[in-house]
Formats: sequence, C-alpha cells, structure tokens
Amino acid sequence: MSKKILITAGPTYEKIDPVRFIGNYSSGKMGFALAEECAKRGFEVTLISGPVSITTENKNIKRIDVESALEMFDEVKKRIESNDAFILCAAVADYRPEAKSDKKIKRTSENLTINLVPNPDIAAFVGKNINKNQVLIGFALETNDEQENALGKLERKNLDFIVLNSLRENGAGFKCDTNKITILERNGIITHFPLKPKTEVAEDIVDKLAERLEKRI
Ligand code: CTP
Repeated sequence: MSKKILITAGPTYEKIDPVRFIGNYSSGKMGFALAEECAKRGFEVTLISGPVSITTENKNIKRIDVESALEMFDEVKKRIESNDAFILCAAVADYRPEAKSDKKIKRTSENLTINLVPNPDIAAFVGKNINKNQVLIGFALETNDEQENALGKLERKNLDFIVLNSLRENGAGFKCDTNKITILERNGIITHFPLKPKTEVAEDIVDKLAERLEKRI
C-alpha cells in the first residue's frame, strides 16, 4: 500500500478586518515542489496550503486550501492518524489579532494598537500525537544562530529531521526558485547541500524521508 504524506505549505493570513491581514512572504514553492516529488514517487499526498498563487500539476495530489493558522491546524489535526509522514513546510503566523473587525477599520489621527494572541504550534502538536512509526519533518528559516535555533526546534517539536534554510544565503528562502539547505537529524547527522532549484531540493528531502519510511513498518 502506498505511504500517505501530509504536507503544509505557504503562508497563513491572519485577518484584521474584511480587507486587511497579517501575512508573510512565503510563496509556497518549496512545499508544492515537495508535494509534486512525493506524488511522482507514488506516495498519496495531501497538501494543505495557505494562500498562494501557484498550482499543483500532479492530479493525484489532494489539495486543501486554508487561510489562517487555526484553519490549517484544524485540517492537520483531522489527519494525524491517517498519515505515515508529515512535512510541515508552511510559514505559519505565530500570532493572530485577538479580535477581527466586521467592518473596515477607519483611519483616524490616533495610534492604532492591534492585540495579538499566539497561534497553536502545529508541528509541536503533531510531534506530541504521532507514534514511532510516523515520520515528522519540519523547516526552519533563521536569520541568526541558525544551527542552534534549528536544533532547538528539532527537540521541542519532536521532529525526525529539520530542514534549515538561512535568510542570509543569496538565492535561498522566500520567493526564490532556488534554495540552499542543511538537514539536521535527530541522530546528530548534519548534511549541507549546495544551492539548487527547489525541485531538486525536494528530491534531496524526499530521499531522506523515503529512507526513514523504509525503516518503519
Ligand atoms: N510551525 C507550525 N506551527 C506554527 C509555527 C511553526 O507548524 N505555529 C512549523 C513550521 O511549519 C516549521 C517549524 O514549525 O516546520 C518551524 O517554524 P518556525 O516558524 O521556524 O518556528 P517557530 O516555532 O515559530 O519559532 P520562531 O518563530 O521563534 O523562530
């Protein structure tokens, strides 16, 4: 039976009022490349994507579009038991406005304060609720103390491995079609990869995932 992989991708949008949101620069390209690569290898792929302007090519990818972190969390939660692996690639907003205005907020001459409350950590939730046969992969995009921060996330979120990309690298990170990654594994192995198109980076990541899945039942 083919393995089932759940992938999150893209940014999340946290609504302020009917015309405004808090978002980020994630294009979804890395997550979509991973979905295509997994589908190409015969895995059954569910792709849960925040708002992006790209499309999926492989007809076998089941795509679910969401907007906010809470919506993404709901869609992931429903599918924890039914998937063999999780690649959590989305740039989930850490905070959302505490209150959404039903009407467009009007301009005044006063300062405006929007109170933000923390969003759930989807990766940490999945990490707490999977069994030892399920594989969990996370991403880290860091501006400083890259490896140290990534290792912290690997532990905290109970990941099998974490894919680190640095915002300091030219041609890596948001918006680009290329990426330069380092994979840090639970067993201490650290692998650096050269700058490559995101489609090839996806191959490297899925190679490692496939290795892990083979070792599980
Ligand atoms: N992640 C998630 N849910 C969140 C925040 C992050 O699932 N609310 C996942 C991301 O998809 C990624 C990993 O956790 O796989 C690391 O995301 P990152 O934003 O780098 O980590 P944070 O825990 O938000 O830490 P910080 O913002 O302090 O760097």
